Amino acid sequence: MNKTAIRLVAVAAVAGLGVAGCSSKKASTAASSTPPAATSAAPSASASASASSSAPASVAPSSSAAGGGGAQVGVILPDTQSSSRWEQQDTPNLKKAFAAANIKVDIQNALGDKAKFVSIGQSMIQEGVKVLIIVDLDSPSGAQVESAAAAAGIKTIDYDRLTLGGSASYYVSFDNVKVGQLQGSGLVACMTAAKIAKPNIIELKGSPTDNNATLFAQGYDGVLNPLYASGKYVKKGEQAVPNWDNAQAGTIFENMLTAAGGKVDGVIAANDGMGQSVITVLKKHGIKAPITGQDATVPGLQSVLRGDQCGTVFKDTSLEATGAATLAIDLIQGKTPDSTLVNGKTHDSQANKDVPSVLETPVWITADKVQDVVKAGQADPKAICTADVAALCTKNGVS
Ligand code: BGC
Repeated sequence: MNKTAIRLVAVAAVAGLGVAGCSSKKASTAASSTPPAATSAAPSASASASASSSAPASVAPSSSAAGGGGAQVGVILPDTQSSSRWEQQDTPNLKKAFAAANIKVDIQNALGDKAKFVSIGQSMIQEGVKVLIIVDLDSPSGAQVESAAAAAGIKTIDYDRLTLGGSASYYVSFDNVKVGQLQGSGLVACMTAAKIAKPNIIELKGSPTDNNATLFAQGYDGVLNPLYASGKYVKKGEQAVPNWDNAQAGTIFENMLTAAGGKVDGVIAANDGMGQSVITVLKKHGIKAPITGQDATVPGLQSVLRGDQCGTVFKDTSLEATGAATLAIDLIQGKTPDSTLVNGKTHDSQANKDVPSVLETPVWITADKVQDVVKAGQADPKAICTADVAALCTKNGVS
């Protein structure tokens, strides 16, 4: 059992929130067993789960405007198109984390619609949740929901993305500058292996409205800018992709490739979803060039095994979910979280303040490391090792 999972069970027990039927063994399983990719259903706008209910495992549409009804914690996820992680990783991992603590949670997805995001927030506030956890679509709409929650005496947690100018009590995420550093150094390792002199690089950034995209860019810029400055690498272009729109990423990349005279040797793609679009464009033009990614999605891991993608950043969202659940329980109980859990601070440049943070560590995954994601319970080998990838799984020990 990892540190956060131990703490989650301990806090729930002390808080009297009920861990009936939840032995420490079960909690450990909850944090790391069934691969989410195998259990998740098709994207849905809403899901609610409780350990006390007998059928929490499947994603079911909310039956009322108020959502899950009687939930102690509300979670608003951003969309289903910018990354498969929100439905396939975070939703099942959050369900498991809250089920392990016997907390009723109402998880809904704003489907990329800011007005819907705000109205879900309002309905959860009316529903009487004690804590609201959000992944914002942009900072203004996120801050709006957080200030409405604060006015109703409800505490908020920023999950994965920091809401600039917001009022969340805590931020739970990964070291996002490190995510970018791993993308930069991963790409450099692949360029070196490919022995390309003076490689031409194109950079495809995440959404300009996502603070994480800024942090990722800080990370890979730190690695690549000195190489551009010394003339060892050539930067052929850099562009942000609004809302991390995967399809638009392909169009933007194709235009950049044309502007670069069709010459590209390596690509920073800020996540796996955008990476898939880049790979499609590269194949169309008959170009094989290392690209990066993030999220360890099934298509991303398959591309890594095929050698179409240089690597992906694995962020074990079961740790993020467990951290958020632990903090939510502390907030409900009015307790100060364990100092080993809240391990950092993140600067909110708009409010000019530091937000106490739980920051997990990202990992760079190349073909020989895909099995690490499987071992962590965060990817289903049956989903990865299909068709042409089966032999590559055998070769790389993925099972
Ligand atoms: C997350 C990434 C995700 C991206 C698009 C970022 O804020 O950290 O994991 O790929 O949003 O949803």
